[in-house]
Amino acid sequence: MAPALRVDVLTLFPGLFDGFLGESILSRAIAKGLVDVKLWNFRDWAEGKHHQVDDRPYGGGPGMVLMAPPLVAAAEAVALMAEPVGRLIAMTPQGTRLNQSKVRELAGEPRLILVCGRYEGFDERILETLCPEQISIGDYVLSGGEVAAMVVIDAVMRLIPGVLGDAESAIDESFSPEVGLEYPHYTRPREFRGLPVPEVLLNGDHAAIERWRREQSRMRTEAAHAHATGATITVVPPERIG
Ligand SMILES: C[S@@+](CC[C@H](N)C(=O)[O-])C[C@H]1O[C@@H](n2cnc3c(N)ncnc32)[C@H](O)[C@@H]1O
Repeated sequence: MAPALRVDVLTLFPGLFDGFLGESILSRAIAKGLVDVKLWNFRDWAEGKHHQVDDRPYGGGPGMVLMAPPLVAAAEAVALMAEPVGRLIAMTPQGTRLNQSKVRELAGEPRLILVCGRYEGFDERILETLCPEQISIGDYVLSGGEVAAMVVIDAVMRLIPGVLGDAESAIDESFSPEVGLEYPHYTRPREFRGLPVPEVLLNGDHAAIERWRREQSRMRTEAAHAHATGATITVVPPERIG
């Protein structure tokens, strides 16, 4: 059976993905055939003895720019290697900021092709020719798109049915429309450095626990919203709820 999600990654540094793909949830998902990740070094599409993929910027300035011919050839060839041709995404700092609703949208796709930039980034004509969607993982500059691509893969694959076991369910996690931000979690010991587990979680009253968790989620979501908008709010301490 075909995997629910195939991700092709175009990168100059495929080795960076070794640990990421070889451990934990993602390696299990790959072993179960739920997700397939293919790595392509676009240097393999570069011509000439030195397989050059970058060059100095026209107009001067620091650094090197990724050349259009090898990257465009690689993206076009990889797209045609499987069906469907896939949703092409370039990792760029100026792209649309990734959030959980975009992650849900991407998790509905059968195939993603993620293009990782390096150095000063892409020759603009790569973007003009391939017209990829552009995604940023935040307002800061990374050395390359690989870490950003890993963020996309990690967030998307955990929404693929069967990837998470029941114990790791993504249903009531943060950012789901029903939940907002998730409530706080506690496990043993009951007290750590003078900090007790909230009493309500210890008494087995499931309705009260549910109420407390909903309230905690609501407070966290409001606090985060207030933080983002600069509003001030008063947060009620957990021991006064429940
Ligand atoms: C050093 S950055 C290039 C930065 C570019 N010169 C600029 O100032 O916008 C090299 C590559 O890292 C990736 N990258 C850097 N920051 C990123 C971010 N916030 N989100 C996604 N990709 C990013 C992109 O693929 C980019 O082409």
